[in-house]
Amino acid sequence: MTHAVLLAALDELLAGRSTAGLLPRVDRLRSAYRSQEVPDGHVLRTPDDAAAYAAYRMPATCAAVRACLLQARAFLPEPVASAVDLGAGTGAASWALAEVLTPSRLQLLEQSSVAADLGRALASASGVPALQAAEWSPWHATAGRVDLPGADLAVAAYLLAELDAATQAAVLDAMIGAAPAVLVVEPGTPAGYARVVAARRRVLDAGLSIVAPCPHEGECPLLDRDDWCHFATRVERSPRHRRLKEGSLSYEDEKYSFVLAARGGRPAAANRVLRRPVQRKGLVDLALCTGDGDARPQVVSKRAGELYKAARKADWGGPWPPEPGHTVPG
Ligand SMILES: C[S@@+](CC[C@H](N)C(=O)[O-])C[C@H]1O[C@@H](n2cnc3c(N)ncnc32)[C@H](O)[C@@H]1O
Repeated sequence: MTHAVLLAALDELLAGRSTAGLLPRVDRLRSAYRSQEVPDGHVLRTPDDAAAYAAYRMPATCAAVRACLLQARAFLPEPVASAVDLGAGTGAASWALAEVLTPSRLQLLEQSSVAADLGRALASASGVPALQAAEWSPWHATAGRVDLPGADLAVAAYLLAELDAATQAAVLDAMIGAAPAVLVVEPGTPAGYARVVAARRRVLDAGLSIVAPCPHEGECPLLDRDDWCHFATRVERSPRHRRLKEGSLSYEDEKYSFVLAARGGRPAAANRVLRRPVQRKGLVDLALCTGDGDARPQVVSKRAGELYKAARKADWGGPWPPEPGHTVPG
């Protein structure tokens, strides 16, 4: 439901702005994010920047957070009645939180007042009570100071990329201190994955347990393989979104890396599907991260009966097998 409601709210809010007028802003944001450099000031400086971000990135970042939460929701040790959204931007992660975990209290922290203003307007058009009642506060994180309110879940979505390494570590420590569950989502690039790996080490060192995506708590087996753990979620594009992306497809695949950890949590999957499964005649090739801390392929043949049927439906990023109790041959 969220995606359609979000696209409708964006359309309504941006109705007075021409797509052509937003394109130069989108280009500037795109180059800022692609440069992979830590920005030396606010990226979202003007109302047009915030509008461009909301139109060009928010549906995809919201969809990525939604996908992470859906993987973990049933495995969180405690219900999430409150959540704090750090570097909330225009509120994408909170839209996903409101849909998947339905917390009654959402606290959004953001340094850019223009992003927060636009986010507030979108939230109030959402018709979703938790979003309409969400509390927005000005917030700026530095390596020396990260103030956070307590909550059941702390979320940093696409934030760490904008922070230097010392501030990333300080933000992580503050999240761990403020909440029993922590979610970090980053772009599904090698650099985003590296930040997630560092965050994963930090939450494990602090005594939290991994809920998703990893089915184990050892070192990531992809680290020494010139590979990176990432997933993708398909995002339907509105006509405005398509024009802003200068693309003809009616959808895009948002790639993301993430870690969700909780005190007293346990892995949501016995094994995790690491790539889009490949179907061949009578066979399905699965690339798996396994519960014993390895990453290896499994070929499921038609002779495996029910398991083969399950493999044909397996998704990139999903648990394997869909039902527990199956081990992957070594
Ligand atoms: C790429 S946007 C992500 C926004 C939103 N979380 C999402 O997923 O769409 C990064 C956000 O982090 C905020 N940010 C960057 N550096 C920050 C800092 N040092 N303190 C607080 N917020 C910061 C930016 O203003 C921006 O809104």
